[in-house]
Amino acid sequence: MAITPLGGNLINRVLDDNGAAKLKKDAASLPSITVSPAEVWDLKLIAIGGYSPLPGFMNEHDYAAVIGKGRLTDGTPWTVPITLSTSDAVKPGKAALKDEDGNLLGSIEVTGTFARRFEAEAKGVFQTTDEKHPGVERIKNAGQTLVAGEVSVLPETLPADEQGMEYRPAAIRAEIEKRGWKNVVAFQTRNPIHRAHEYLLRTAMETADGLLIHPLVGETKAGDIPADVRTACYKALIEKYFPAERVILAALPAPMRYAGPKEAIHHALMRRNYGANQFIVGRDHAGVGDYYGTYDAQKIFETYDDLGISNLNFEHSFWCKGVGSYATQKTSPFGKEMQLTISGTKLREMLGNGEHPPAEIVRPEIADILIAYYKTL
Ligand code: ADX
Repeated sequence: MAITPLGGNLINRVLDDNGAAKLKKDAASLPSITVSPAEVWDLKLIAIGGYSPLPGFMNEHDYAAVIGKGRLTDGTPWTVPITLSTSDAVKPGKAALKDEDGNLLGSIEVTGTFARRFEAEAKGVFQTTDEKHPGVERIKNAGQTLVAGEVSVLPETLPADEQGMEYRPAAIRAEIEKRGWKNVVAFQTRNPIHRAHEYLLRTAMETADGLLIHPLVGETKAGDIPADVRTACYKALIEKYFPAERVILAALPAPMRYAGPKEAIHHALMRRNYGANQFIVGRDHAGVGDYYGTYDAQKIFETYDDLGISNLNFEHSFWCKGVGSYATQKTSPFGKEMQLTISGTKLREMLGNGEHPPAEIVRPEIADILIAYYKTL
């Protein structure tokens, strides 16, 4: 049996055929709330149980507890508010949920509304109120009224796949079960897989039954490589360089928040819901700019003992010319001068010019895909 989801049961807020037909009939007479693109990802994750135990968007008490204590009011660990924002007046009762193009997504049973506490949320989640931080910018620009309530989602809101990948926790759990894996390591990424990532993956695989490579495919910030291009990289890499029977490649349809340590816990909890019991946390996990210390996202795990999924920490890893393989400061006796490293800016510049970075950093097959992408910009 795979590890239990957070809260014990996988939440399912997808309407059955009767419920869907009824909602479509009633929708015209219901008040409606527009859901922003980032919140549509959250809505879908609630529906499929990726955010178990949440059955809907948070109420004021959970919101305050998450920001202040990193827990829901009932004590369940949770570090990122999952909220529905609006600028309109919303009354308690049933409302239709629509995307920005007016498509019906589902409904919400509104229990109340409350004001976003911008300062407290920004500080509590992102540790900064700097609006240059992409996560802070998003909550600043969103509606400042938050709507609480359980949701129900139309089946057609959920695509058959995300970027050609399975993305439903129930399906991934079934696959883990089928393969008989007990010890499952999950890997979060929002980037193409470079050789340093591969080092973490292979090291983790040595002691696990299987690996869940679980790229985040929801909204990311401008400048990040789009999910379809990354997916082409993941597929090319895994097909050629990983044993198929020991890897599951699946999508996480969550938006990226860039909240560093708080998001690392959030990432881990979602992976528990997908059936993993270990979660890789490397350097500057879910970080952006200089807002977080290199290993803050590892340290925060020491403050929780009830996540039900453990963190598998990795130091900064690099190609070590002295050792002649990937290594970390824990495993190499050589100094910095032996580390082959290229900054992200330099890497983008090389790929943008059609040049292959050293194969120790980016595999040629992956570089080709990225070079083709940079040509389209
Ligand atoms: S993240 O925003 O999803 O964390 P990224 O896709 O770059 O960004 O990282 C995926 C995972 O690999 C994270 O756990 C990150 O800490 C880890 N990681 C990335 N590069 C390295 C590296 N060179 N050494 C150690 N860990 C790394």
